[in-house]
Amino acid sequence: MKILVIGGGGREHALVWKLKQSSLVEKIWCAPGNGGIVEDAECVAVDSGDVAALVALAEKIAPDLTVVGPELPLVNGISDAFARRNWPIVGPTRQAAQLEGSKIFSKEFLLRHNIPTAKMYGAYSSSQDACAALQTVDWPLVIKADGLCGGKGVTLAPSEEAAREFLESVMEKHELGLGGQRVLLEETLEGEELSFILLTDGQRYAPMVPSRDHKRVFDGNKGPNTGGMGAYSSDDLLPAALRERVISTIVEPTLNGLATEGIPYQGFLYIGLMLTADGPKVLEFNCRLGDPEAQAIVARMDFDLAEVLADAAAIRLNPLRLRWKKGASVCVVLTSGGYPGKFETGKHIDGLTSIRDNIGVEVFQAGTRLETNSLVTSGGRVLGVTAAGPSLEEALTLAYRAAEKIHFDGIHYRKDIGAHSGRVKAAGD
Ligand SMILES: Nc1ncnc2c1ncn2[C@@H]1O[C@H](COP(=O)(O)OP(=O)(O)O)[C@@H](O)[C@H]1O
Ligand SMILES: [Mg+2]
Repeated sequence: MKILVIGGGGREHALVWKLKQSSLVEKIWCAPGNGGIVEDAECVAVDSGDVAALVALAEKIAPDLTVVGPELPLVNGISDAFARRNWPIVGPTRQAAQLEGSKIFSKEFLLRHNIPTAKMYGAYSSSQDACAALQTVDWPLVIKADGLCGGKGVTLAPSEEAAREFLESVMEKHELGLGGQRVLLEETLEGEELSFILLTDGQRYAPMVPSRDHKRVFDGNKGPNTGGMGAYSSDDLLPAALRERVISTIVEPTLNGLATEGIPYQGFLYIGLMLTADGPKVLEFNCRLGDPEAQAIVARMDFDLAEVLADAAAIRLNPLRLRWKKGASVCVVLTSGGYPGKFETGKHIDGLTSIRDNIGVEVFQAGTRLETNSLVTSGGRVLGVTAAGPSLEEALTLAYRAAEKIHFDGIHYRKDIGAHSGRVKAAGD
Protein backbone atom coordinates (compact mmCIF):
# COMPACT_ATOMS: atom_id res chain seq x y z
CA MET A 1 0.00 0.00 0.00
CA LYS A 2 1.22 3.49 -0.86
CA ILE A 3 -0.21 6.16 1.40
CA LEU A 4 -0.38 9.94 1.20
CA VAL A 5 -0.79 11.75 4.54
CA ILE A 6 -1.89 15.38 4.40
CA GLY A 7 -0.65 17.83 7.04
CA GLY A 8 2.57 18.64 8.82
CA GLY A 9 2.06 18.67 12.58
CA GLY A 10 2.50 16.30 15.50
CA ARG A 11 -0.75 14.57 14.62
CA GLU A 12 0.50 13.74 11.15
CA HIS A 13 3.87 12.60 12.46
CA ALA A 14 2.06 10.24 14.86
CA LEU A 15 -0.09 8.89 12.01
CA VAL A 16 2.91 8.40 9.72
CA TRP A 17 4.86 6.68 12.53
CA LYS A 18 2.02 4.22 13.13
CA LEU A 19 1.25 3.63 9.44
CA LYS A 20 4.90 2.86 8.80
CA GLN A 21 4.76 -0.05 11.25
CA SER A 22 2.26 -1.87 9.02
CA SER A 23 3.63 -4.71 6.90
CA LEU A 24 1.10 -3.67 4.26
CA VAL A 25 2.76 -0.30 3.76
CA GLU A 26 5.35 0.10 1.06
CA LYS A 27 5.67 3.88 0.82
CA ILE A 28 4.40 7.01 2.57
CA TRP A 29 4.34 10.57 1.30
CA CYS A 30 3.45 13.51 3.50
CA ALA A 31 2.30 16.93 2.25
CA PRO A 32 3.91 19.09 3.48
CA GLY A 33 5.37 17.12 6.42
CA ASN A 34 8.11 18.57 8.66
CA GLY A 35 11.66 18.05 9.90
CA GLY A 36 10.76 14.85 11.76
CA ILE A 37 8.30 13.31 9.32
CA VAL A 38 11.02 13.47 6.67
CA GLU A 39 12.73 10.55 8.45
CA ASP A 40 9.66 8.34 8.01
CA ALA A 41 8.08 9.55 4.77
CA GLU A 42 8.84 11.44 1.59
CA CYS A 43 7.78 15.01 2.27
CA VAL A 44 6.32 17.01 -0.61
CA ALA A 45 6.11 20.79 -0.35
CA VAL A 46 2.40 21.25 -1.04
CA ASP A 47 0.16 23.50 1.04
CA SER A 48 -2.22 21.26 2.99
CA GLY A 49 -5.19 23.61 2.42
CA ASP A 50 -4.79 23.72 -1.37
CA VAL A 51 -7.16 21.09 -2.77
CA ALA A 52 -6.21 21.64 -6.43
CA ALA A 53 -2.52 21.21 -5.65
CA LEU A 54 -3.20 18.08 -3.60
CA VAL A 55 -5.27 16.59 -6.44
CA ALA A 56 -2.39 17.32 -8.81
CA LEU A 57 0.03 15.63 -6.42
CA ALA A 58 -2.18 12.54 -6.05
CA GLU A 59 -2.59 12.39 -9.83
CA LYS A 60 1.18 12.15 -10.10
CA ILE A 61 1.98 9.73 -7.28
CA ALA A 62 -1.25 7.65 -7.37
CA PRO A 63 -1.51 6.67 -3.68
CA ASP A 64 -3.67 3.67 -2.74
CA LEU A 65 -4.97 5.62 0.24
CA THR A 66 -4.96 9.26 1.36
CA VAL A 67 -5.34 10.20 5.03
CA VAL A 68 -6.24 13.81 5.89
CA GLY A 69 -4.98 15.28 9.18
CA PRO A 70 -6.18 18.91 9.40
CA GLU A 71 -9.62 20.45 8.96
CA LEU A 72 -8.86 22.99 6.24
CA PRO A 73 -8.53 20.62 3.27
CA LEU A 74 -11.69 18.83 4.42
CA VAL A 75 -13.71 22.04 4.71
CA ASN A 76 -12.24 23.00 1.31
CA GLY A 77 -13.64 19.80 -0.22
CA ILE A 78 -10.68 17.46 -0.68
CA SER A 79 -12.79 14.36 -0.02
CA ASP A 80 -15.33 15.40 -2.65
CA ALA A 81 -12.56 15.97 -5.19
CA PHE A 82 -11.00 12.56 -4.47
CA ALA A 83 -14.38 10.76 -4.41
CA ARG A 84 -15.24 12.14 -7.87
CA ARG A 85 -12.09 10.42 -9.14
CA ASN A 86 -12.72 7.23 -7.15
CA TRP A 87 -9.54 7.73 -5.12
CA PRO A 88 -9.69 6.18 -1.63
CA ILE A 89 -9.50 8.82 1.12
CA VAL A 90 -10.18 8.98 4.85
CA GLY A 91 -11.99 12.21 5.70
CA PRO A 92 -15.52 13.60 5.45
CA THR A 93 -16.97 15.56 2.53
CA ARG A 94 -17.19 19.33 2.52
CA GLN A 95 -20.84 19.17 3.58
CA ALA A 96 -20.17 16.74 6.45
CA ALA A 97 -17.14 18.82 7.51
CA GLN A 98 -19.55 21.69 8.18
CA LEU A 99 -20.03 20.04 11.57
CA GLU A 100 -16.69 21.71 12.32
CA GLY A 101 -16.67 24.42 9.66
CA SER A 102 -19.83 26.10 10.98
CA LYS A 103 -20.70 26.25 14.67
CA ILE A 104 -24.23 27.37 13.74
CA PHE A 105 -24.73 24.43 11.35
CA SER A 106 -23.56 22.03 14.05
CA LYS A 107 -25.71 23.61 16.78
CA GLU A 108 -28.81 23.47 14.57
CA PHE A 109 -28.01 19.84 13.73
CA LEU A 110 -27.72 18.99 17.46
CA LEU A 111 -31.00 20.72 18.26
CA ARG A 112 -32.84 19.03 15.34
CA HIS A 113 -31.83 15.64 16.68
CA ASN A 114 -32.37 16.37 20.38
CA ILE A 115 -28.73 15.68 21.19
CA PRO A 116 -27.71 17.19 24.55
CA THR A 117 -25.82 20.46 24.08
CA ALA A 118 -25.65 23.97 25.56
CA LYS A 119 -28.87 25.94 25.01
CA MET A 120 -28.64 28.31 22.04
CA TYR A 121 -29.83 31.87 22.60
CA GLY A 122 -29.56 32.75 18.95
CA ALA A 123 -27.40 33.08 15.82
CA TYR A 124 -26.70 36.54 14.39
CA SER A 125 -25.14 38.05 11.31
CA SER A 126 -24.82 41.62 12.56
CA SER A 127 -23.26 42.96 15.73
CA GLN A 128 -26.35 45.17 16.30
CA ASP A 129 -28.63 42.11 16.44
CA ALA A 130 -26.17 40.17 18.57
CA CYS A 131 -25.79 43.10 20.99
CA ALA A 132 -29.57 43.53 21.23
CA ALA A 133 -29.84 39.86 22.23
CA LEU A 134 -27.46 40.46 25.17
CA GLN A 135 -30.44 41.82 27.15
CA THR A 136 -32.06 38.39 27.25
CA VAL A 137 -29.19 36.03 28.14
CA ASP A 138 -27.75 34.64 31.37
CA TRP A 139 -24.14 35.40 32.42
CA PRO A 140 -21.46 34.32 31.87
CA LEU A 141 -22.27 33.91 28.17
CA VAL A 142 -20.46 31.82 25.58
CA ILE A 143 -20.00 33.53 22.21
CA LYS A 144 -18.79 31.51 19.22
CA ALA A 145 -17.73 32.86 15.86
CA ASP A 146 -19.33 30.63 13.24
CA GLY A 147 -16.43 29.67 10.96
CA LEU A 148 -12.92 28.23 11.27
CA CYS A 149 -10.92 30.53 13.56
CA GLY A 150 -7.92 28.40 14.51
CA GLY A 151 -9.02 28.09 18.14
CA LYS A 152 -9.58 31.84 18.62
CA GLY A 153 -13.30 31.98 17.84
CA VAL A 154 -14.82 31.23 21.25
CA THR A 155 -15.03 33.43 24.32
CA LEU A 156 -16.66 33.16 27.71
CA ALA A 157 -17.93 36.66 28.40
CA PRO A 158 -18.44 37.44 32.10
CA SER A 159 -20.32 40.69 31.41
CA GLU A 160 -22.20 42.65 28.78
CA GLU A 161 -19.17 44.89 28.35
CA ALA A 162 -16.86 41.94 27.61
CA ALA A 163 -19.43 40.50 25.21
CA ARG A 164 -19.75 43.80 23.31
CA GLU A 165 -15.98 44.05 23.05
CA PHE A 166 -15.68 40.54 21.56
CA LEU A 167 -18.59 41.10 19.18
CA GLU A 168 -17.08 44.35 17.99
CA SER A 169 -13.66 42.78 17.38
CA VAL A 170 -15.02 39.85 15.36
CA MET A 171 -18.06 41.36 13.61
CA GLU A 172 -16.95 44.96 13.02
CA LYS A 173 -13.16 44.88 13.01
CA HIS A 174 -13.14 41.39 11.43
CA GLU A 175 -10.19 40.39 13.58
CA LEU A 176 -10.90 36.72 12.94
CA GLY A 177 -11.51 37.14 9.20
CA LEU A 178 -14.46 35.49 7.48
CA GLY A 179 -14.94 33.08 10.40
CA GLY A 180 -16.51 35.93 12.38
CA GLN A 181 -19.24 36.96 9.93
CA ARG A 182 -21.87 35.23 12.03
CA VAL A 183 -21.91 34.41 15.75
CA LEU A 184 -23.71 32.02 18.03
CA LEU A 185 -24.69 32.92 21.60
CA GLU A 186 -25.06 29.98 23.96
CA GLU A 187 -25.44 28.96 27.56
CA THR A 188 -22.30 28.33 29.67
CA LEU A 189 -21.92 24.74 30.79
CA GLU A 190 -19.92 23.61 33.80
CA GLY A 191 -17.99 20.40 34.21
CA GLU A 192 -14.93 18.58 32.93
CA GLU A 193 -14.19 18.22 29.26
CA LEU A 194 -13.57 14.98 27.42
CA SER A 195 -12.66 14.21 23.82
CA PHE A 196 -14.58 11.28 22.38
CA ILE A 197 -13.21 10.53 18.92
CA LEU A 198 -14.49 7.83 16.63
CA LEU A 199 -13.69 6.47 13.20
CA THR A 200 -16.65 5.74 10.95
CA ASP A 201 -17.15 4.55 7.38
CA GLY A 202 -20.70 5.92 7.36
CA GLN A 203 -22.22 2.58 8.34
CA ARG A 204 -20.17 1.28 11.25
CA TYR A 205 -18.05 3.10 13.78
CA ALA A 206 -15.20 2.36 16.17
CA PRO A 207 -14.42 4.62 19.14
CA MET A 208 -10.86 5.67 19.90
CA VAL A 209 -9.73 5.51 23.55
CA PRO A 210 -11.02 8.56 25.49
CA SER A 211 -8.70 11.54 25.82
CA ARG A 212 -8.44 15.00 27.29
CA ASP A 213 -6.39 17.92 26.08
CA HIS A 214 -4.94 21.00 27.77
CA LYS A 215 -5.44 24.19 25.79
CA ARG A 216 -4.06 26.97 28.01
CA VAL A 217 -0.38 27.77 27.77
CA PHE A 218 0.52 27.73 31.48
CA ASP A 219 0.14 25.29 34.38
CA GLY A 220 -3.15 25.41 36.25
CA ASN A 221 -5.01 26.30 33.02
CA LYS A 222 -3.68 29.86 33.03
CA GLY A 223 -2.79 32.13 30.14
CA PRO A 224 -4.10 32.25 26.60
CA ASN A 225 -5.45 29.36 24.52
CA THR A 226 -3.11 27.43 22.25
CA GLY A 227 -3.52 24.70 19.66
CA GLY A 228 -2.91 22.26 22.54
CA MET A 229 -0.17 21.97 25.19
CA GLY A 230 -0.68 18.27 25.69
CA ALA A 231 -3.18 15.50 26.14
CA TYR A 232 -3.63 12.22 27.90
CA SER A 233 -5.67 9.10 27.51
CA SER A 234 -6.71 6.57 30.09
CA ASP A 235 -9.67 4.27 30.39
CA ASP A 236 -10.53 5.84 33.75
CA LEU A 237 -11.56 8.98 31.88
CA LEU A 238 -14.70 7.23 30.70
CA PRO A 239 -16.23 4.70 33.11
CA ALA A 240 -18.56 2.10 31.54
CA ALA A 241 -21.85 3.73 32.59
CA LEU A 242 -20.82 7.13 31.28
CA ARG A 243 -19.58 5.55 28.07
CA GLU A 244 -22.95 3.89 27.55
CA ARG A 245 -24.67 7.20 28.09
CA VAL A 246 -22.39 9.02 25.64
CA ILE A 247 -23.02 6.35 23.04
CA SER A 248 -26.79 6.19 23.45
CA THR A 249 -27.53 9.91 23.87
CA ILE A 250 -24.82 11.42 21.66
CA VAL A 251 -22.84 9.12 19.36
CA GLU A 252 -25.69 7.07 17.92
CA PRO A 253 -28.14 9.98 17.52
CA THR A 254 -25.38 11.94 15.77
CA LEU A 255 -24.52 9.17 13.30
CA ASN A 256 -28.21 8.36 12.74
CA GLY A 257 -28.99 12.05 12.28
CA LEU A 258 -26.31 12.38 9.62
CA ALA A 259 -27.60 9.27 7.85
CA THR A 260 -31.25 10.39 7.88
CA GLU A 261 -30.27 13.80 6.56
CA GLY A 262 -28.42 12.14 3.70
CA ILE A 263 -25.01 13.38 4.86
CA PRO A 264 -22.75 10.34 4.75
CA TYR A 265 -19.86 10.83 7.15
CA GLN A 266 -16.64 8.94 6.63
CA GLY A 267 -13.47 9.58 8.63
CA PHE A 268 -12.64 10.65 12.16
CA LEU A 269 -15.36 12.47 14.10
CA TYR A 270 -14.23 14.31 17.21
CA ILE A 271 -16.96 14.97 19.74
CA GLY A 272 -15.95 17.54 22.35
CA LEU A 273 -17.98 16.84 25.48
CA MET A 274 -18.68 18.67 28.71
CA LEU A 275 -19.48 16.23 31.51
CA THR A 276 -22.11 18.29 33.33
CA ALA A 277 -24.17 17.49 36.41
CA ASP A 278 -27.03 16.80 33.93
CA GLY A 279 -24.96 14.33 31.95
CA PRO A 280 -22.63 14.63 28.97
CA LYS A 281 -23.34 17.44 26.50
CA VAL A 282 -21.76 18.29 23.18
CA LEU A 283 -19.53 21.38 23.13
CA GLU A 284 -18.46 20.98 19.53
CA PHE A 285 -17.65 18.63 16.68
CA ASN A 286 -14.36 18.48 14.81
CA CYS A 287 -14.12 16.60 11.53
CA ARG A 288 -10.67 15.13 12.32
CA LEU A 289 -8.43 13.94 15.13
CA GLY A 290 -7.34 16.58 17.64
CA ASP A 291 -3.60 17.28 17.44
CA PRO A 292 -2.24 16.41 20.89
CA GLU A 293 -5.03 13.86 21.39
CA ALA A 294 -3.98 12.04 18.20
CA GLN A 295 -0.46 11.61 19.56
CA ALA A 296 -1.73 10.15 22.85
CA ILE A 297 -4.26 7.94 21.03
CA VAL A 298 -1.79 6.58 18.48
CA ALA A 299 0.53 5.61 21.35
CA ARG A 300 -2.16 3.20 22.58
CA MET A 301 -3.03 1.63 19.21
CA ASP A 302 -2.46 -2.10 19.11
CA PHE A 303 -3.68 -2.74 15.58
CA ASP A 304 -2.68 -2.18 11.98
CA LEU A 305 -3.71 1.41 11.31
CA ALA A 306 -3.12 1.13 7.56
CA GLU A 307 -5.47 -1.82 7.29
CA VAL A 308 -8.15 -0.14 9.42
CA LEU A 309 -7.99 3.14 7.49
CA ALA A 310 -8.06 1.37 4.13
CA ASP A 311 -11.15 -0.51 5.34
CA ALA A 312 -12.80 2.76 6.45
CA ALA A 313 -12.16 4.30 3.03
CA ALA A 314 -13.64 1.24 1.33
CA ILE A 315 -16.72 1.24 3.62
CA ARG A 316 -15.87 -2.08 5.20
CA LEU A 317 -14.68 -0.98 8.64
CA ASN A 318 -14.45 -3.83 11.12
CA PRO A 319 -14.61 -2.22 14.59
CA LEU A 320 -13.32 -5.42 16.20
CA ARG A 321 -9.92 -4.85 14.61
CA LEU A 322 -9.29 -1.80 16.80
CA ARG A 323 -7.49 -3.16 19.85
CA TRP A 324 -5.93 -0.89 22.45
CA LYS A 325 -3.07 -1.13 24.90
CA LYS A 326 -4.41 -1.16 28.44
CA GLY A 327 -3.31 1.62 30.75
CA ALA A 328 -2.66 5.16 29.68
CA SER A 329 -0.70 7.50 27.47
CA VAL A 330 0.32 11.12 27.51
CA CYS A 331 1.63 13.74 25.10
CA VAL A 332 3.56 16.73 26.45
CA VAL A 333 3.96 19.50 23.89
CA LEU A 334 7.25 21.43 23.93
CA THR A 335 6.79 24.94 22.57
CA SER A 336 8.85 27.94 21.55
CA GLY A 337 9.04 30.60 24.29
CA GLY A 338 6.35 33.24 23.74
CA TYR A 339 3.91 30.96 21.91
CA PRO A 340 0.96 31.47 21.30
CA GLY A 341 2.14 35.07 20.96
CA LYS A 342 5.33 36.11 19.18
CA PHE A 343 8.26 33.68 19.25
CA GLU A 344 11.58 33.16 17.53
CA THR A 345 12.42 30.21 15.29
CA GLY A 346 15.61 28.63 13.99
CA LYS A 347 16.75 27.43 17.45
CA HIS A 348 18.85 24.27 17.49
CA ILE A 349 17.13 21.28 19.08
CA ASP A 350 19.40 19.03 21.19
CA GLY A 351 18.89 15.83 23.09
CA LEU A 352 16.66 13.85 20.75
CA THR A 353 19.25 11.17 20.05
CA SER A 354 19.74 10.53 23.77
CA ILE A 355 16.12 9.37 24.11
CA ARG A 356 15.75 7.65 20.77
CA ASP A 357 15.93 4.19 22.36
CA ASN A 358 13.71 4.92 25.36
CA ILE A 359 11.10 2.20 25.36
CA GLY A 360 7.54 3.48 25.46
CA VAL A 361 8.51 7.03 24.44
CA GLU A 362 8.16 8.61 21.01
CA VAL A 363 8.90 12.21 20.15
CA PHE A 364 6.57 13.42 17.42
CA GLN A 365 7.70 16.54 15.61
CA ALA A 366 5.55 19.53 14.66
CA GLY A 367 7.33 22.90 14.27
CA THR A 368 10.70 21.59 13.15
CA ARG A 369 12.85 21.93 10.08
CA LEU A 370 15.92 20.02 9.01
CA GLU A 371 18.79 22.40 8.20
CA THR A 372 21.81 20.81 6.55
CA ASN A 373 22.71 18.52 9.44
CA SER A 374 20.76 19.88 12.35
CA LEU A 375 17.19 20.07 13.47
CA VAL A 376 15.86 23.55 14.27
CA THR A 377 12.58 24.98 15.52
CA SER A 378 10.23 26.38 12.89
CA GLY A 379 6.94 26.88 14.72
CA GLY A 380 5.21 27.49 18.02
CA ARG A 381 4.49 23.91 18.94
CA VAL A 382 7.77 22.16 18.31
CA LEU A 383 7.66 18.59 19.65
CA GLY A 384 5.15 16.20 21.22
CA VAL A 385 6.87 13.96 23.76
CA THR A 386 4.53 11.00 23.88
CA ALA A 387 4.63 7.99 26.20
CA ALA A 388 2.45 5.02 27.00
CA GLY A 389 2.51 2.96 30.18
CA PRO A 390 0.46 0.66 32.38
CA SER A 391 -0.81 3.66 34.37
CA LEU A 392 -1.09 7.40 33.86
CA GLU A 393 1.61 7.98 36.48
CA GLU A 394 4.03 5.71 34.65
CA ALA A 395 3.29 7.30 31.28
CA LEU A 396 3.81 10.76 32.82
CA THR A 397 7.13 9.75 34.39
CA LEU A 398 8.41 8.42 31.06
CA ALA A 399 7.30 11.50 29.14
CA TYR A 400 8.63 14.09 31.58
CA ARG A 401 11.94 12.26 32.01
CA ALA A 402 12.38 12.37 28.25
CA ALA A 403 11.25 16.00 28.01
CA GLU A 404 13.96 17.03 30.48
CA LYS A 405 16.63 15.72 28.09
CA ILE A 406 15.50 17.95 25.24
CA HIS A 407 16.85 21.46 24.92
CA PHE A 408 16.34 24.46 22.68
CA ASP A 409 16.53 28.15 23.38
CA GLY A 410 13.31 29.38 25.01
CA ILE A 411 11.76 25.91 25.48
CA HIS A 412 8.47 25.89 27.40
CA TYR A 413 6.11 23.11 28.41
CA ARG A 414 3.42 22.51 30.98
CA LYS A 415 4.40 20.45 34.01
CA ASP A 416 0.82 19.49 34.89
CA ILE A 417 -0.36 17.50 31.87
CA GLY A 418 -2.68 14.76 33.08
CA ALA A 419 -3.21 16.33 36.50
CA HIS A 420 -6.86 16.03 37.47
CA SER A 421 -6.70 19.08 39.68
CA GLY A 422 -7.36 21.69 37.00
CA ARG A 423 -11.14 21.46 36.85
CA VAL A 424 -12.24 23.04 33.63
CA LYS A 425 -14.93 25.58 34.10
CA ALA A 426 -14.16 28.41 31.77
CA ALA A 427 -14.14 28.77 28.01
CA GLY A 428 -10.90 27.56 26.57
CA ASP A 429 -9.50 25.93 29.69
N1 LIG B 1 -21.18 26.24 26.18
C1 LIG B 1 -19.98 26.24 26.75
N2 LIG B 1 -19.87 26.33 28.09
C2 LIG B 1 -18.65 26.39 28.69
N3 LIG B 1 -17.49 26.34 28.03
C3 LIG B 1 -17.54 26.25 26.68
C4 LIG B 1 -18.78 26.19 25.98
N4 LIG B 1 -18.51 26.09 24.66
C5 LIG B 1 -17.16 26.08 24.55
N5 LIG B 1 -16.59 26.18 25.75
C6 LIG B 1 -15.14 26.22 26.04
O1 LIG B 1 -14.47 26.84 24.97
C7 LIG B 1 -13.54 25.92 24.36
C8 LIG B 1 -13.52 26.16 22.87
O2 LIG B 1 -14.82 25.98 22.36
P1 LIG B 1 -15.10 24.98 21.16
O3 LIG B 1 -16.57 24.95 20.94
O4 LIG B 1 -14.41 23.71 21.43
O5 LIG B 1 -14.47 25.77 19.93
P2 LIG B 1 -13.03 25.74 19.23
O6 LIG B 1 -12.32 24.50 19.66
O7 LIG B 1 -13.38 25.75 17.79
O8 LIG B 1 -12.37 26.99 19.66
C9 LIG B 1 -14.04 24.55 24.79
O9 LIG B 1 -13.00 23.62 24.80
C10 LIG B 1 -14.56 24.83 26.18
O10 LIG B 1 -13.50 24.94 27.12
MG1 LIG C 1 -12.55 22.83 20.69
